[in-house]
Amino acid sequence: MPHIAILGAGAVGTALATNWAARGHEITFGVRDADSESARKALNMLGGRARGTHFADAVTAGDVVVLALPWRAVEATLAGVDDFGGRVLIDATNPLEFVDGSLRLAVGHTTSGGERVAEWARGARVVKTLNQIGAERMAEPSALSPKPVMFAAGDDPEAREEALALIADLGFEAQDFGPLAGARLLEPFALTWIHMALVRGELLPVSWTGSGVI
Ligand SMILES: NC(=O)c1ccc[n+]([C@@H]2O[C@H](COP(=O)([O-])OP(=O)(O)OC[C@H]3O[C@@H](n4cnc5c(N)ncnc54)[C@H](OP(=O)(O)O)[C@@H]3O)[C@@H](O)[C@H]2O)c1
Repeated sequence: MPHIAILGAGAVGTALATNWAARGHEITFGVRDADSESARKALNMLGGRARGTHFADAVTAGDVVVLALPWRAVEATLAGVDDFGGRVLIDATNPLEFVDGSLRLAVGHTTSGGERVAEWARGARVVKTLNQIGAERMAEPSALSPKPVMFAAGDDPEAREEALALIADLGFEAQDFGPLAGARLLEPFALTWIHMALVRGELLPVSWTGSGVI
């Protein structure tokens, strides 16, 4: 059973960690400060079933790595990891920014956040997935009916298989979405569920800074 390193201990990181830990996976959070209030809160939520360390050390500890950071933090954080050593890197981020009060993709059309991540993460086999549903539904998707679909796009078929097995383990209906360029469709799709959350009057399920890249 793979040991999972999760870079980011926020809404997405803790929901995924809670779910995978309950299924017996060992979890290591990658954080910028393992003694910060936010990191300690995440570790307390996991009740001793996870540990926290700096990003590069977490990557070394994990068999598989999950990227769960705000887009604005992604490039610099990945630059701090010398080599992913061929590990699968599940990219759950959405490359979002606010411009004039409106949420939009910071990259798209001819590339995607997932493809940028593949350029920045040396030695990683990147799979774009887990960006298509709100964090509040990631801890127990099997409670939903019908079982929610989760697509996974990546250039390495074996990496896709590994990621699909892990997302099926979470309780999703895991679907192979083909090569990583499919992230150009999966990232705008994230705006669809965010839009629905707004239409339904639910809270915006991402960090809001009011301007700039989130
Ligand atoms: N929220 C959702 O419903 C949802 C669903 C699907 C995908 N996503 C995507 O998943 C990613 C994470 O979202 P989230 O909602 O989990 O975010 P979040 O709750 O804001 O958590 C962000 C995490 O990133 C860390 N972080 C923030 N700024 C950083 C920086 N400059 N350098 C290093 N670490 C930094 C935070 O650590 P500190 O506590 O130290 O700041 C925290 O651990 C985003 O790309 C988002 O678009 C979100």
